[in-house]
Amino acid sequence: MIAVLAGWFSARAISQRVKRLEQAAEQVAAGDFSTPIVVDSDDELGQLAVAFNDMQAQLAQFDRARKQFIATASHELRTPLFSLGGFVELLEDEELDEETRRRFLAQVREQVERLGKLSVDLLDLSRLESGSLELRPEPVDLSELARSVSSEFEPVLAQHDSRLEVRLASRPVEALCDPVRVAQIIRILIDNALTHTTPGTDVIVSATRDDGFARLAVADHGSGIERASLSRIFEPFYTSDDAQGSGLGLAIASELAERMDGRLGVESRPGRTVFALELQA
Ligand SMILES: Nc1ncnc2c1ncn2[C@@H]1O[C@H](COP(=O)(O)OP(=O)(O)O)[C@@H](O)[C@H]1O
Ligand SMILES: [Mg+2]
Repeated sequence: MIAVLAGWFSARAISQRVKRLEQAAEQVAAGDFSTPIVVDSDDELGQLAVAFNDMQAQLAQFDRARKQFIATASHELRTPLFSLGGFVELLEDEELDEETRRRFLAQVREQVERLGKLSVDLLDLSRLESGSLELRPEPVDLSELARSVSSEFEPVLAQHDSRLEVRLASRPVEALCDPVRVAQIIRILIDNALTHTTPGTDVIVSATRDDGFARLAVADHGSGIERASLSRIFEPFYTSDDAQGSGLGLAIASELAERMDGRLGVESRPGRTVFALELQA
């Protein structure tokens, strides 16, 4: 009799604890991450509760990050849209002289370009984060790629009054990667080296082979990145100066590098900033 009673009580206690876990799981499934389970023992069920609370905390953090991302993205989209609306309204004025009209149209074009670039970047980043961006790795000569991407910047260089030097090894620097995406990373890095430095700052692009790795570096002689910003520049939307960027470039570049089993690193001090992409040779 006593054994039956004891068995019944302990079974009931266990079933109540399992029930609590089940209710908590239902709450999380409904999107409520606010109440952790009380951990009242260190047996198997207690350990399960601890693991559950950890998972809940992580989900809560993902949820916050996702909401933050959407809020920032909509804000970034709204700014050029407002500006566009304003210029269109101004252009409706029929008494505008030709010169002013041209100036407004140039502003409209600039905002449209900015919106276009922003939407492509947002799409790339969300595809990268959800894992649906397909990469096509193949053996690629990084020297050749660095040379061809660098040459795209000639018109910009003339405006910026800077020189872009391409330093290449005498032998090809072969790496296993998706050439389209590596070209995108190089563009992001050269663009940064030109937009976040004062005009006249020289930029050096180099491709080398280090034991087992192919290394592509973009260096500039700009004023450098502050220590406090260095750890944050790879975050989406982070910008540390007033240049009109949306802060997505480096986030995309480093995600792309990781997806190709590579790494994008940075070293910076006043007078020298180097971004280096390391890929499997
Ligand atoms: N070569 C560089 N020299 C100085 N600062 C840089 C350089 N590259 C990037 N940064 C800093 O890192 C930030 C993030 O860069 P990025 O993700 O490309 O965004 P964006 O260029 O849109 O601002 C920039 O706002 C800038 O402050
Ligand atoms: Mg940039």
